[in-house]
Amino acid sequence: NNLDTLYRQVIMDHYKNPRNKGVLEDDSLTINMNNPTCGDRIQLTLQLEDGKVADAKFEGEGCSISMSSASMMTQAIKGKSTEDALKMGHIFSDMMQGKEYEDDIDLGDIEALQGVSQFPARIKCATLAWKAMEKGINEG
Ligand code: FES
Ligand code: FES
Repeated sequence: NNLDTLYRQVIMDHYKNPRNKGVLEDDSLTINMNNPTCGDRIQLTLQLEDGKVADAKFEGEGCSISMSSASMMTQAIKGKSTEDALKMGHIFSDMMQGKEYEDDIDLGDIEALQGVSQFPARIKCATLAWKAMEKGINEG
């Protein structure tokens, strides 16, 4: 249907024109995470300042779902409080489990990935960058 087509276009746009691709310098946090089922990997760098995600960038190699999800995730959390970033992580996790999710926070392009919940093998692709973000904030 039209919504699926729109969502596919949003995903491909993030894959072809990734937002926040690269590596942050200075005193940023670096988190490496890989998807054991395929060996794809992501490196996330986060700049945390005063309880906020001041900046976020990612590098990596992976399928369109993993890379577009990383692009959407960095776009979504930049400028947010670390608390809101973690909250978005929980919302995304609920979305991937096909559960009802809270929408009192602007999810931006992330909702384009909700269809992934129907493809269990691909959920790990979509959650890779989010796990990296959660690890970085929780351990950072
Ligand atoms: Fe095959 Fe992600 S592990 S599509
Ligand atoms: Fe490896 Fe999707 S196939 S992250």
